[in-house]
Amino acid sequence: MSRLIVVSNRVAVPEANGKVTAGGLAVAVNAALKERSGVWFGWSGRITDVPSDRPAVTTRNRIKYAVIDLKDSDYQEYYNGFANRVLWPILHYRVDLAEFQRADLSGYIRVNRLFADHASRFIQPDDVIWVHDYHMMPLAKYLRERGHANRIGFFLHIPMPPPELIQTLPRHGEILGSLAHFDLVGFQTENDRDNFGRYLITRGGQVTSDPSVYEIAGRRVRIAVFPVGIETEAFARRARHAGRTDYVKSFRNSLGGRKLIIGVDRLDYSKGIPHRLEAYETLLRTSPEWHDKVTFAQITPKSRTEVPEYIEMDRFLSHKAGQINGAFGDVAWTPLRYVNRTYSRSALGGFYRAANVAMVTPLRDGMNLVAKEFVAAQDPADPGVLLLSQFAGAAAELSGGALMVNPHETEGMAAALKRALDMPLDERRERHERMMAVLRRNDIDQWAETFLEALVPPERTASPATVMQRSTLLGMGHGAGWQGVHGPDFL
Ligand code: G6P
Repeated sequence: MSRLIVVSNRVAVPEANGKVTAGGLAVAVNAALKERSGVWFGWSGRITDVPSDRPAVTTRNRIKYAVIDLKDSDYQEYYNGFANRVLWPILHYRVDLAEFQRADLSGYIRVNRLFADHASRFIQPDDVIWVHDYHMMPLAKYLRERGHANRIGFFLHIPMPPPELIQTLPRHGEILGSLAHFDLVGFQTENDRDNFGRYLITRGGQVTSDPSVYEIAGRRVRIAVFPVGIETEAFARRARHAGRTDYVKSFRNSLGGRKLIIGVDRLDYSKGIPHRLEAYETLLRTSPEWHDKVTFAQITPKSRTEVPEYIEMDRFLSHKAGQINGAFGDVAWTPLRYVNRTYSRSALGGFYRAANVAMVTPLRDGMNLVAKEFVAAQDPADPGVLLLSQFAGAAAELSGGALMVNPHETEGMAAALKRALDMPLDERRERHERMMAVLRRNDIDQWAETFLEALVPPERTASPATVMQRSTLLGMGHGAGWQGVHGPDFL
């Protein structure tokens, strides 16, 4: 079996005892690497004045974790600038928030070339290369320029908007167009894939006799859907155990028998947190019977704290939370607990299990694994209800069991919240079971395996028909961010 080289912005380097502390995706990537042996290359998360010209390498279980530091100018232009102030907003349909600067684009290209130089040291002719997320879109082009004819795949963990929005990005052809240098480009949902297919056509691409393969500028690229899953059984187990810990018990006791609504998101404008808080406010205003009977815990670790739009959102949310508590709270009841702390995945599993309702209501989200983890964490005998935005990638798989909402309609969300709080046990069970069946069928291991099977040429493994059949079996037709690998990495 070929070795695997994984490249991503963040790398989950295991602790000295070999333990992987990061999330499900890191577990899957590690499992895939372990089976094949290989290298995981990326940024260390550190900034230094004069980065070493050799990656720092840690070896565990035949896997090499190779990381480099970045210079401050690279961090500012590539990460804060182009990746998070241009690509992130545009790919989340927030063209209004994109702040393009040529220097940032140059920084992005420079870091991608730097990554290609470093990764090149590890690549052997038979290796399979798997690149993750929007930080590394042009990487295959630079690897090809360095003479690597390997199979190279890319998975986009965040949404892909329609071509009309992509075209607002200056020099989009150099960035988005360069995805055609990959052999396989994977998306979370059919919508994302179709948007990219249409974009390729605007670039002169043509669909071949295989409708998932496009020919463009003399290259052939396959585009397909691989909805990211979670470690369904392991997460369910973890949540069951966490529910019995003193930590989670004391959280539950602190609720004083009130119902719990939970929201867990990185502090990000794509998550629709203000809209969600407004819906809760509307519920409190229109349903006084719920006063003192319900608590909303919104857990929101901070992220990308140097980017102006995130600083602004931080200020807005703290203000909004204060307003809600000021207007509706009582000395003995805080309606909203808004916290910016980071919790371990186990603790979150316990919190999910303690919750009666989860609000996962992003304005736009690649997949949203909180939705999936909330479902897996529930007690099947007495499960909580998932309120899910129609704009989360997870909607394509979970709409059969979740209460679907449009985050732009406050009253509709407030009504759904009320319905969720009042939902009878039978209906909750039935909905939960439907969602669990989906999560069991397409878990994180299957996701990684299916992607890698599609990446390695059919003639070397199975016939295209077999690959198709397997995709259909896994429900890949019913589409699902690379969730970072630091802190609460699944947000
Ligand atoms: C999303 C992206 C990931 C990113 C994560 C955390 O899930 O898809 O690529 O790692 O957010 O963001 P950060 O900028 O802190 O890595």
